Amino acid sequence: MTVNFISLAHQTLERIRDRTALVGEVGRGYVGLPFLVEKTKVGFRVVGIDQNPQRAEMVGRGESYISDVKDEDLHEGLRRGLISTATSLEAVGELDVIVICVPTPLGAGLTPDLQYIEGVTRGIAKSLRPGQLISLESTTYPGTTEDVMKPILEESGLEAGVDFFLAHSPERVDPGNKRYTTKNTNKVVGGSDPVSLEVATCFYNQTIETVVPMSSAKAAELVKVYENTFRAVNIALANEVALLCDRMGLDVWEVLDAAFSKPFGIMPFYPGPGVGGHCIPLDPHYLEWKAREYNFQTHFIALAGETNRKMPEFVVDKATRVLNKERKCLNGSKILLLGMAYKADLSDCRESPAIEAYLRLQQAGAQVSFHDPWVPVVNNHRLSAKSVELTSDVLYSADLVIITTNHSNIDYRRVVELAPLVLDTRNVTREIASDKVVFL
Ligand SMILES: NC(=O)c1ccc[n+]([C@@H]2O[C@H](COP(=O)([O-])OP(=O)(O)OC[C@H]3O[C@@H](n4cnc5c(N)ncnc54)[C@H](O)[C@@H]3O)[C@@H](O)[C@H]2O)c1
Repeated sequence: MTVNFISLAHQTLERIRDRTALVGEVGRGYVGLPFLVEKTKVGFRVVGIDQNPQRAEMVGRGESYISDVKDEDLHEGLRRGLISTATSLEAVGELDVIVICVPTPLGAGLTPDLQYIEGVTRGIAKSLRPGQLISLESTTYPGTTEDVMKPILEESGLEAGVDFFLAHSPERVDPGNKRYTTKNTNKVVGGSDPVSLEVATCFYNQTIETVVPMSSAKAAELVKVYENTFRAVNIALANEVALLCDRMGLDVWEVLDAAFSKPFGIMPFYPGPGVGGHCIPLDPHYLEWKAREYNFQTHFIALAGETNRKMPEFVVDKATRVLNKERKCLNGSKILLLGMAYKADLSDCRESPAIEAYLRLQQAGAQVSFHDPWVPVVNNHRLSAKSVELTSDVLYSADLVIITTNHSNIDYRRVVELAPLVLDTRNVTREIASDKVVFL
């Protein structure tokens, strides 16, 4: 280790500790924006870099587009001169710390699509300078930081672990969770070398209550995909039991609640219309893909993905049977979906199973509409539709209302009172004893 390297690390550590380090957050979405605010609260100046100009303008006006971030916090950061925005990576050379939080979608055949990480890394490499810390927070397969990013960054002529510091620290935030936020969710950190780990740990220690250092970036990458795989597999198990209970004529919610009454050896996971969001449906397949390189098949991941993807089809099947009992057929029936977001009290519709159910119902000839207080419009490559008002007439005239998201700001008692028939895939109407409701 050269003296120059030690002094570079020392300088960066000093700037982080006295909060004079200029931080860049590349990708200001569900994960990036809460992070940006957290950094400004302790006095860091943060440049929020996002290629989406509307998002830059909104941050500049102190308007949040992420429900976990309050406008007041953005206003405060702007008032103190701690927040600035950029739509390109041009000024990357001025930054001391660069955190990357861009999307990691799946490509064809459930394979990782690293175009965003690679694009940003190439942009950073152009202006990389000695002493900078680069930390990847996007969820990805083990090896991305060291095998994909490091070679690109080193094309600059600078060497990781000698001239600059490189780490992976997966973001584990649970959007909408009021108890566990960016600040009090333990942060795992892995460096490409021991000094990178020290610098990255010091950086995260400034804002996160507990930092968990790991032996490598690769191990840190595996932690996050394992966590999401754990959720995907357990949700799939609950979904499988729901399908079995349907055949057996048992109430899956009663069975699961009784199972979860045991104080040890089990933890609650519930069935539903399928999984959504940018994590559970995607991340496990990053690991599945990487495992193949080691001639290893991750059977649980494949099976969980398959089971969870089947659920919207099951919802349509159950809707058909529920209508059939009333001597109605799905073709031509008016179906109202209650909820488009993949999760309660959020506006995020990415990979939402409600969209899949909507399209399948439509294909079967149903007249489908939706109401979602969080989602006025769905406009993506699969579906373009507007939320209808939840008027008495809309409820009354539907043949079937399917509750697809358990938002807390819907008056379910009124829904059950006015709708002729309800299929509840989220168990939110349990307390409203009514023979109009059929549960998943
Ligand atoms: N949403 C979650 O619940 C969650 C939780 C933990 C981890 N993650 C992970 O965090 C990462 C980001 O997820 P997200 O939900 O915040 O995504 P997001 O789509 O909400 O935000 C990503 C942002 O990156 C921007 N972006 C894309 N390419 C860019 C580029 N070249 N330069 C600058 N900006 C660019 C986009 O405009 C967007 O605003 C993903 O890897 C995801 O798996 C997400």
